[in-house]
Amino acid sequence: MRVLAIESSCDESAVAVLDESQGLLAHELWSQIDLHRLYGGVVPELASRDHVKRLLPLVQQALAAAGTSGSQLDGIAYTAGPGLTGALLTGAALARALAYGWQLPALGIHHLEGHLLAPLLETPAPGFPHLALLVSGGHTLLIEAQALGDYRLLGETRDDAAGEAFDKSAKLLGLPYPGGPQLAALAQHGRAGAVPLPRPMLDRPGYEFSFSGLKTAVLLATRAQPLDEQRRADIARGVQEAIVDVLCTKALRALAETGHQTLVVAGGVGANLELRERLRRAVAAQGGQVFFPRSEFCTDNAAMIAMAGLLRLRAGERGTLELGVRARWPLAELRPPSAASQMVPAASRQ
Ligand code: KG4
Ligand code: ZN
Repeated sequence: MRVLAIESSCDESAVAVLDESQGLLAHELWSQIDLHRLYGGVVPELASRDHVKRLLPLVQQALAAAGTSGSQLDGIAYTAGPGLTGALLTGAALARALAYGWQLPALGIHHLEGHLLAPLLETPAPGFPHLALLVSGGHTLLIEAQALGDYRLLGETRDDAAGEAFDKSAKLLGLPYPGGPQLAALAQHGRAGAVPLPRPMLDRPGYEFSFSGLKTAVLLATRAQPLDEQRRADIARGVQEAIVDVLCTKALRALAETGHQTLVVAGGVGANLELRERLRRAVAAQGGQVFFPRSEFCTDNAAMIAMAGLLRLRAGERGTLELGVRARWPLAELRPPSAASQMVPAASRQ
């Protein structure tokens, strides 16, 4: 079985080809970062227009790199939500047009399910059931993943996502968009413990997060003393320590309390080296195992959408003929694969 996948939910245009027995045959990505940098964040209209320009050439590149043609494919997977409506529609329209032309099933994939399944692109791959920490620019979730499409939410953020906390703190430190990786790089020159920052909700039981207080503390820290290079690096280190500390503590608590042995980390913040290192050590000390996607598959990509599409197609799902996308789409609404669509009725779409 072979799948072509298209991802266009935000500011990355990506296309991949995944084969059940040969693995990942191609993955192409065009990042719009330079387009949005001037504005300090993603401008939805610009994102949609750029996807329109980039996606079809990326499909052609991916097919050529994979040495495959439409007739050798078994289905097309595309991100149907959550994300920016206009951006999602560009990928959905192209995927459905190609599927119609090639007479293939087209599956609308949940972007977060894609992130959750990205570690399955690696060897060894985690099995089900497991605990998942999904940390991206828009989400911070602790999830019990029982099986494909069966995700139970244990806890999430009450306000900002972990990636958002990285990005907003980075902005306060004068770093360019997107700030997460830039802040992590600056933190390498900072001194441990030099700028202690709050760790909200750390001492409360349960699995909820809160990161919005962090940016206020960072703002105050940037004003307290002259903001020279060392001070900026110390603050960056403090921010990373605070976020990593909260994520690790809650993930480890969830492992201990649920009895799971396997932790899967996914989403853009999963690329953070400090988080990877601390989780690796702590989970091993607890007798468990932690799985990450390679860094380039932590952030948005089409390989993860192809993985979700392949697993669902293999389980018999064939999608519908509707061109439906959902800007908001709670993960808990997903269902295990079935011959029926995993999308909800049109009336409840946004
Ligand atoms: O998963 P993703 O690519 O997009 C969403 O679906 O949100 O995640 C992007 C987020 C951004 O907030 C970015 O700053 C953060 O992931 N990020 C990082 C790192 N790489 C990406 N945060 C901290 N350290 C990194 N190395
Ligand atoms: Zn994402």
